[in-house]
Amino acid sequence: NRRIFFGASLLALLLSALPAAAQTPIVIKFSHVVAKDTPKGLAADYFADLVNKRSNGKVKVEVYPNSQLYKDGEEMEALQLGSVQMLAPSLAKFGPLGVPDFEAFDLPFIFDNYDELHRVTTGPLGKNLLKKLEPKGIVGLAYWDNAFKDFSANKPIKAPADFKGLKMRIQSSKVLDSQMRSLGVNPQVMAFSEVYQALSTGVVDGTENPPSNFYTQKMHEVQKYMLRSQHGYLGYAVIVNKKFWDGLPADMRKIIDDAMAEATVYANKIAKQKNDEDVEAVRKSGKTTIIVPTDAERLELKKAMMKVHREHENRIGADLIKAIYKETG
Ligand code: LMR
Repeated sequence: NRRIFFGASLLALLLSALPAAAQTPIVIKFSHVVAKDTPKGLAADYFADLVNKRSNGKVKVEVYPNSQLYKDGEEMEALQLGSVQMLAPSLAKFGPLGVPDFEAFDLPFIFDNYDELHRVTTGPLGKNLLKKLEPKGIVGLAYWDNAFKDFSANKPIKAPADFKGLKMRIQSSKVLDSQMRSLGVNPQVMAFSEVYQALSTGVVDGTENPPSNFYTQKMHEVQKYMLRSQHGYLGYAVIVNKKFWDGLPADMRKIIDDAMAEATVYANKIAKQKNDEDVEAVRKSGKTTIIVPTDAERLELKKAMMKVHREHENRIGADLIKAIYKETG
């Protein structure tokens, strides 16, 4: 009889599909451009471990470090297209996406320390900024710290005049472009994966980095001087493809959300420590001379660079800049 036959085949079909469904995890490809042994690399792995354990294999986070999968300039599009599900680009890399507001974090000397920064990232200002990503098909989940940046070059640099005429690599941020120009530097936008090579062949003379990126990319092999200028902040927004995020089963989204909250605490706990260790590692290598400016010398740099805040009021929003001053002031 036809009905029984149909019923039986349907049952067989369901039964054969069941184990397959149970075995096929939801995959989250998490791509980033730095080494594994950096604050971001370690936090990404920490997050992946938590999710993979707690979801009992139903969600599988795969971390691809070192620009292995996508480089700067490719990864945002890959996220929007759904080729990867998760990224943690530096806040200096959202301009090309059409959200230049994040470049407020690039303004030189806008934060004196992590505490001031956290008042912004953990408060309403930080939340509102992440919301601006949603029309781009992206959900912002968290801010992860790296550190304050130092300049490097192959000649001693300290006073603003020492920078004049140097060519330096920057991330794709208009604020960083102006920051370099304020010192008479010729800035060159370049993907992170290409910096070591560019420094070693002399395509650029220098750059700026948190120590953890400088050391793990072996830039100490190709830069003779590092100025501990700590002139600007570099940190990340962890972001996901919105369609993917909205389509997750609620229980899985909860597991991921909780793991992200814990990974964020971890990331921000290890950031300073890793960077301090890596300054020491650079020093120990004996290859890069570390120049520590006095307060007065640092103030000279600040005086030269502060005009960048004014120059970007229109692009970033005078209100946002004022609100950050207020929050940190
Ligand atoms: C850079 O391009 O210098 C950084 O954004 C790399 C990173 O992800 O820390």
